[in-house]
Amino acid sequence: MKDRAIVNEVGLRDGLQNQPVTVGTEAKAAIARALVGAGVRYLEPVSFVSPKAIPQMADAAALTPLLPRDEGLGLHYTALVPNLKGYQLARDAGYPTVALVLSTTDTFNQRNLNMSLEQATASCEAIIQAARADGVATRTYISGAFACPYDGPVPVTLPQRLTERMFEAGSDEVAIADTIGAGNPRQMKDIMAPLIRDFGAERFYVHLHDTRGLAAAMAWAALDLGVRRFDASLGGLGGCPFAPGATGNVATEDLVYLLESCGLDTGIEIQALREAVALAAEATDRPLGGRILTWIESQEARGKQITL
Ligand code: COA
Ligand code: ZN
Repeated sequence: MKDRAIVNEVGLRDGLQNQPVTVGTEAKAAIARALVGAGVRYLEPVSFVSPKAIPQMADAAALTPLLPRDEGLGLHYTALVPNLKGYQLARDAGYPTVALVLSTTDTFNQRNLNMSLEQATASCEAIIQAARADGVATRTYISGAFACPYDGPVPVTLPQRLTERMFEAGSDEVAIADTIGAGNPRQMKDIMAPLIRDFGAERFYVHLHDTRGLAAAMAWAALDLGVRRFDASLGGLGGCPFAPGATGNVATEDLVYLLESCGLDTGIEIQALREAVALAAEATDRPLGGRILTWIESQEARGKQITL
């Protein structure tokens, strides 16, 4: 049997939070349906954040009941929460997993959460404690793990120390996040190899942005260490409003192509993802699509049969 890899689709959250247009609730639900139709089973469709901070996510509670129902598919929904209030809203909306955010520097935490690094760490610990009591799973994102958008490169020991602290607090999983796409494959290995030795690869996610074109190489470095869980965003949609210079996440279709062509099973059909990408492009009024889609289109234009 093929080795399985999990691709967690974060386009509806990380992708849409940074767009100049606010996409309507029904249009978001249609994108979610198309994603699930293409085989996506892990989705982060919402964040429960201040509507003043991120108006694009203000419809989180309204969108939730419109999302595809499980109906035996094995869907895994996550909601991002910035604080205890967001956690309570996500729990009440029925999310079985929440994504917490802990940035590596004071400045980034301050801009993103209005908290110092120490306050954000304590806030994550409190959310994890509450979630454990409620039976809600937690994934803590170590944001800016490779570099801070404000303060520049961070030493590898910093994301490592924060990861250890979050596991000690009881976080089920940790995501190593290159929020601004500033890392490289060597750093990925330097940060993650000792952590994987201590905690096991199955407890880690990797969250990549393709700002400087190294996302695929970094995904490979993580894969080589045994990581099998990755975030990605349809069409490469994305960014972070509080991380200047952050462009889109690694495109779901490109990551799926990388994983499948290396013999892993993602359960996602690239051809079927095209509908979701087209819907997102229409909803955001911008061209979207990973490199593999450009290649497919060029082949089709020449009348070639494509097998992926
Ligand atoms: N969801 C909805 N509203 C929230 C909220 C949440 N999670 N947390 C706080 N609020 C509301 C409060 O109720 C309060 O409302 P009021 O003005 O009507 O009384 C207001 O926001 C201010 O609350 P406060 O606790 O002082 O928050 P803040 O102004 O210090 O902002 C955050 C802190 C975390 C809420 C805000 O910075 C935020 O939402 N950041 C999200 C960042 C993000 O999503 N980044 C991208 C993903 S990493
Ligand atoms: Zn991101």
